[in-house]
Amino acid sequence: MIASSHTPVSSHLTITHLDHTPASEITPAGEDVMAGLSQPQKTLPPRYFYDERGSQLFEQICSTPEYYPTRTEASILRKYAHDLAQRTGSCELVELGSGSSTKTRYILSAYDQLDAPFYYVPIDVSQEILVASAEQLLQDYPRLQVQGLVGTYEQAIAHLPESPVGARLVIFLGSTLGNFSAADCDRFFVELDNALNPGDYVLLGVDLQKPKEILEAAYNDAAGVTAAFNLNMLAHLNWRFGGDFDLNQFTHRALYNEAAGQMEMYLDSQRSQTVHLRDLDFTVNIAAGESLHTEISRKFNLDHLQADLQRHHLTPRQVWTDDQNWFGLVLCQR
Ligand code: AVJ
Repeated sequence: MIASSHTPVSSHLTITHLDHTPASEITPAGEDVMAGLSQPQKTLPPRYFYDERGSQLFEQICSTPEYYPTRTEASILRKYAHDLAQRTGSCELVELGSGSSTKTRYILSAYDQLDAPFYYVPIDVSQEILVASAEQLLQDYPRLQVQGLVGTYEQAIAHLPESPVGARLVIFLGSTLGNFSAADCDRFFVELDNALNPGDYVLLGVDLQKPKEILEAAYNDAAGVTAAFNLNMLAHLNWRFGGDFDLNQFTHRALYNEAAGQMEMYLDSQRSQTVHLRDLDFTVNIAAGESLHTEISRKFNLDHLQADLQRHHLTPRQVWTDDQNWFGLVLCQR
């Protein structure tokens, strides 16, 4: 059973901590790193991109001219948030990985106009980000009731509060779903299917398949922000685990694997080197030219995705895209 503590921050804001599941069910910090570095293709988990500096670099990526997903998704939301609100009617809005909630504002504004009670449940692993962005939102939406959940997606999905206003709408934006392997994606849909009530909605924002040149440019921006973001993972592992990765001895590489329909990012070792993670009591040898695989970012086909959702009892109701069909928003209903 997950223990939780409710802390009223103001009359319109409550923060709930979803405590960690039993130790046997989660990977203790660092074990995922050691496991990844012990595989034939050395791999590092993408969650280690996001220390404070990494989150800042990601924000910077979003405003590079090459990285189209963020602004394209925002343009779709700007245009269709009202259709969304009309379609679902009054809903409790639940957001997985809410971060700074910037794009969410289009949706909140649309629901605000429905003239019904107005609930937002942002979910994030960072309490600081959760409280800071909720306080911002409350200034702009005085009628809003915010119940922030601090925890992982898995914890939050398993402990969604019952909606006080009929259906729930769970939103998962930014194509974060693309970081999941097909198997992880499947598991995620099963968890959603189990957690939702019949009639509840899910809105997924997904990056779509498109010509290789556009995709590769988006992950190889000319200013080198994506390269810095990729390399920052090593700096993060250094401070978190007492590591001695030399960032000068690795280079960023991103390519589109057309057969798999996914962008892949790597850090290529410039020479033969030995790296220690002191706090994990772990040493790894990396050959010259050997790569560390840091991320997959799957690019979706809307027909396949809708069939997949349908198989998990999440019936597609509406798809919105931009004029170029670069990014998609899929609304489905449990
Ligand atoms: C936040 C996971 C959606 O995959 O495009 C941006 C992260 N990686 N540039 C993505 C990312 C390289 C981003 N997601």
